[in-house]
Amino acid sequence: VSSPDPGLSRRQILGRAGAVGAVLAVGGGAFGAGRLTAADHDEVTGQVAFHGPHQAGIVTPQQDHLLFATYDLLDTSRADLAKVLALWTAAAERLTAGRPVAGDLPDASPPADTGEAGELDASRLTLTFGIGAGALERVGLGSRRPPQLVDPPHFPGDALRPERSGGDLCVQACADDPQVAFHAVRNLTRIGRGIVAARWSQAGFLGKPGGGTTPRNLMGFRDGSNNLDPSDAARMDRNVWAAAGDGARWMAGGSYLVVRAIDIRIEAWDRTPLAEQESIFGRHRANGAPLGATAEHDPVDVGKAGADAHIVLANPRAAGSEDERILRRGYNMADGVDQSFGQLRAGLFFLAYQRDPRRQFVPIQTRLAQNDGLNEYIAHRGSAVFAVLPGVRPGGTLGGALLA
Ligand code: HEM
Repeated sequence: VSSPDPGLSRRQILGRAGAVGAVLAVGGGAFGAGRLTAADHDEVTGQVAFHGPHQAGIVTPQQDHLLFATYDLLDTSRADLAKVLALWTAAAERLTAGRPVAGDLPDASPPADTGEAGELDASRLTLTFGIGAGALERVGLGSRRPPQLVDPPHFPGDALRPERSGGDLCVQACADDPQVAFHAVRNLTRIGRGIVAARWSQAGFLGKPGGGTTPRNLMGFRDGSNNLDPSDAARMDRNVWAAAGDGARWMAGGSYLVVRAIDIRIEAWDRTPLAEQESIFGRHRANGAPLGATAEHDPVDVGKAGADAHIVLANPRAAGSEDERILRRGYNMADGVDQSFGQLRAGLFFLAYQRDPRRQFVPIQTRLAQNDGLNEYIAHRGSAVFAVLPGVRPGGTLGGALLA
């Protein structure tokens, strides 16, 4: 560290020294270095630790921006899958530390890193990687396919588009700066060239109010009020993390991600009276309180919220509901204009982590697809399920246990 800037506070200087130690520790193979943890970040460098028993970006407090990208494998070779995962591991270690990707050649060659994150810090970047069922089959690892890794059935109202669905591999890039997220995905895509081709991607954003207040979706309601608490480790073990005995040992510490690109007819919604909007969700718009209650986190009275309210269909609060609960980590999306109607395109990019989509997402969505009043205003246009790989130990590789 060069001579400290006199404008830096003592805490910042100490933090900076700690950050340098942490970066060295990544290369040196230490585990759990400094004050970096999977769920937290370094206040000075903006780094979220890449290494750990679980990948970062799942229980990590949500960043402001998302760029989600999926890829198709170009070939059916297991060696190629191993190669791209090894290259992505090395790149992700650097990118999440706020560093450019490695490998600069002499000046006559194109630079290894594309450069647009130059002076930007890590911005809490997390890169979370998953693999789809098709990829396992294609590279001859079908016998290792976890029973949980299956496409959901067709639900009433589904209007899925292939160009927003599926994929052999995915990366969820989240950062507080959208350019940092883009830079990461761009460079991962570039590094994977020849082995994978980008299939589809989706950007998302989340306007986060101060003081930890629940953010709102584009229908104007607080979204996440009764989400699972990602800092509750016992709850994550029960509902989110795959265990060794779940059917695929290589997935221990991983999770299953269900992705749904849900378009929202915001113009129709904006013509709907407030009382009707509130009865559809079962919560008040102003402060997110359940209908019939006064504060956001008051218990839900199913009778007052209404049996067909979104929050009751999504969580009936009956026997078995606790095991069904999912960790939602979605983002708002808005993208251009629907030319045929002259309306803004907007939606919710639904991302949910869970231990078994067959017992969690599928029963929830089965009830919602049948009876949710929201269905009049939304359309599910994209869908994908990924096995999100277990975390990487220093010196290890993404998918190490799968490919061993
Ligand atoms: C555009 C689509 C959707 C919108 C706008 C939406 C919005 C909301 C809102 C405002 C809440 C209440 C606050 C909260 O607890 O988070 C909520 C709760 C919830 N939603 Fe959705 N949601 C959508 C789709 C879905 C889907 C597809 C699922 C899962 C299949 C889902 C599952 C849940 C769950 C589990 C809860 C918590 C219920 C509780 O425990 O009280 N939502 N959603």
